[in-house]
Amino acid sequence: MNSLAIRNIGELVTWADDQPIRRDAGLVVEDGRVAWVGASADTPAADESEDAEGTAVIPGFVDSHTHLVFAGDRSEEFAARMAGRPYGAGGIRTTVAATRSTSAAELEALARRRMAELRRQGTTTVEIKSGYGLDVATEARLLRIASGLTDETTYLGAHVVPEGWTADAYVALVTGEMLEACAPHARWVDVFCERGAFDVDQSRTVLRAGVDAGLLPRVHANQLGFGPGVQLACEVGAAAADHCTYLSDPDVSALAEAGVVAGLLPGVEFSTRHPYPDARRLLAAGVRVAIATDCNPGTSYTSSMPFCLALAVREMGLTPTEALHAATQGGAWSLRREDVGHLRVGARANLAFLDAPSHVHLAYRPGVPLVRRVLVGAHLTAHRDCRENSEGNPS
Ligand code: NIG
Ligand code: FE
Repeated sequence: MNSLAIRNIGELVTWADDQPIRRDAGLVVEDGRVAWVGASADTPAADESEDAEGTAVIPGFVDSHTHLVFAGDRSEEFAARMAGRPYGAGGIRTTVAATRSTSAAELEALARRRMAELRRQGTTTVEIKSGYGLDVATEARLLRIASGLTDETTYLGAHVVPEGWTADAYVALVTGEMLEACAPHARWVDVFCERGAFDVDQSRTVLRAGVDAGLLPRVHANQLGFGPGVQLACEVGAAAADHCTYLSDPDVSALAEAGVVAGLLPGVEFSTRHPYPDARRLLAAGVRVAIATDCNPGTSYTSSMPFCLALAVREMGLTPTEALHAATQGGAWSLRREDVGHLRVGARANLAFLDAPSHVHLAYRPGVPLVRRVLVGAHLTAHRDCRENSEGNPS
């Protein structure tokens, strides 16, 4: 099969300028790309056809921030937080110990299982970071595993300073031997710029070294308190400043001026009891916004973009349509991808069929598994009911 016609789409979200959301629509996929969009009744013939039965079709979610490759469990830390203990970046070291002592084959199996979870919930593009190795061999191993699962791989050797190292010596490793081993497997470089992790000068050093090695910068910024992370992201021309939980007015203006995407990670606020940032404030200032899961064992062990989208609606002030935009087109902006996050003609045919008449149900029916099927453009054969088959790798 190289073409597929989908008719009778009750609501089709394309994010096209003229008609971002269409009713009674049809869509044709050819060679894994969207070739035609229009009224259902006008849908041209194709090799295969599909009846959406009046339900909604949306672009596949673009999850622009995850830490999927790790071992171990920190549910007790979560339970303690829910009983009042604060989150501290030091918990990362617990996962580092578990990850280092797990074989590559087991780490890959764990990551694949999480990928399948993501896919079942409608995610078709995912970014994956290293950061739970913190030595040369393990960081490179995590990135090799990640690059077997996605093109959007991020080198996060600068997650925290591991035990037994001074910050300066570790930054030298991260920008030297470790970078050399990791850069071939990564597209992005990231740093946790935060009190308890890396200060602004160390973070700048890490990002600049990554850029010199051909990587594109993105930053973990302003998660645990006000700080310099967002301004640094703007200074280095990062694609995204993720978290943005504590933003000053100058931070918001800087994001808007520099065109840096603010990555909002509501699963983190949920799971750490930090306050949710105000997404309306960002949109009002002209900042481009993305929603991502930050799937990781410490601060947000959810793989569900629909859950994060619903939280962003309820807790960050977004409308259901704005939240879906941030979870699809916003994620694509964050990853500097033109081919995903929308369903305009030419896009990759990465899409999710919902068991619902409109995308509003994603927030209106939180926690309900509304994604019925996922189509991933590059692999038309992967078109199947995801409740029956959970294999497959988001591109
Ligand atoms: O994005 N902020 C830094 N890294 C992760 C947390 C990692 C952990 O606690 O294991 C995050 O929240
Ligand atoms: Fe993160």
